[in-house]
Amino acid sequence: MEPSKDFISTFMIAVSNCSLYSKEHEAFDELAKKTLAVLEEDLKDRLEIMIIDDELIVNKKPLRGGGLHRINIIKRLKKKGISRVDFLEGITLSEIKQFIIDISEPGKRLKSYPHIRTGAVDIRMGGLKMDAVDINNLTFSPLEEIEKVKEVFHSAKPHRKLDIAGLEEVVVHFIGSFKKEANLLKLLSPIKSYSEYTYTHATNVSILSVLQAESLGIKDDLLHEFGMAALLHDAGKLFISREVLDKKGKLDDKEYAEIKKHPLYGARYLAKMDHLTRLAPIIAFEHHIKYDGSGYPDSRLNGKKQHICSQIVAISDFFDALRSRRPYRESWETGKIVALMKKNAGKDFNPMLLNNFTGLLRTALN
Ligand SMILES: [Fe+2]
Ligand SMILES: [Fe+2]
Repeated sequence: MEPSKDFISTFMIAVSNCSLYSKEHEAFDELAKKTLAVLEEDLKDRLEIMIIDDELIVNKKPLRGGGLHRINIIKRLKKKGISRVDFLEGITLSEIKQFIIDISEPGKRLKSYPHIRTGAVDIRMGGLKMDAVDINNLTFSPLEEIEKVKEVFHSAKPHRKLDIAGLEEVVVHFIGSFKKEANLLKLLSPIKSYSEYTYTHATNVSILSVLQAESLGIKDDLLHEFGMAALLHDAGKLFISREVLDKKGKLDDKEYAEIKKHPLYGARYLAKMDHLTRLAPIIAFEHHIKYDGSGYPDSRLNGKKQHICSQIVAISDFFDALRSRRPYRESWETGKIVALMKKNAGKDFNPMLLNNFTGLLRTALN
């Protein structure tokens, strides 16, 4: 086997076995030692791994084959928002052990390791930036994140796949920043201009939804999947004409009927994406259905109950839509929005979820 393929397999065997043993167990110690030995064999002065699209690039060459281990390492790293890892000469057994542990635990943030650099490949500015960025030192900057969301949405076409990895990174950043920022409303971004609404709204809805979900005990992989699905709740609007979406005045019946198709378009589009779970099309389809079953699409879910994650997104969606200034109306004060939502609890919104949401707002504002 070529050395780099050998490293990916040994490393992934250690990662997937890690949760089976206590960290002091000699079997884990053996696997980590083996990984280090293969790494030292590979390491001229560094071993560099990058993920570009869905390719694994090892020391600047695409790695072919490698089967499930190659697919799994791409998945694991993407979930951490990482698309680049550099292993440097001088790496120790305790560093590689810690790295294996951190990669194997879904909700765990990576630490800094003296001889392992983790970060993102920046391909946005044309050409690769070769320096790895330390993801632990990144802070969430709403405007930068919205730029990323914007790029991904701009490149979305009916017959093209979305750059899911780019969006994964955004979600990883704001889940990480929750722990640092006490006033979570500060993470929400104001609308810079009307044309920015789609991306800003998507990002804000995802932040508000993850915030609610986390407070209800959802964590790790599911929290991340939910953040992604919420970010894409309005993906169907990519297929609605600009004239209708950007219309400043009131919509006529025909235009409104077109807008009402975005849940179905979104669900169809997202169902075709390889790297998304079922949650994304479900939320896209259901987010305009109300708690009492009214709203649209009119299918009334054929007797099925609306998914609780769609109910969470419906709350975030309504709140963010009203707090944003639009060409046809001013933004609303938080208190006024909350009062209206409470009035419609049990009809438009799940009362238990709404109660939890207003509690979170109160804590954030005090
Ligand atoms: Fe929508
Ligand atoms: Fe929306």
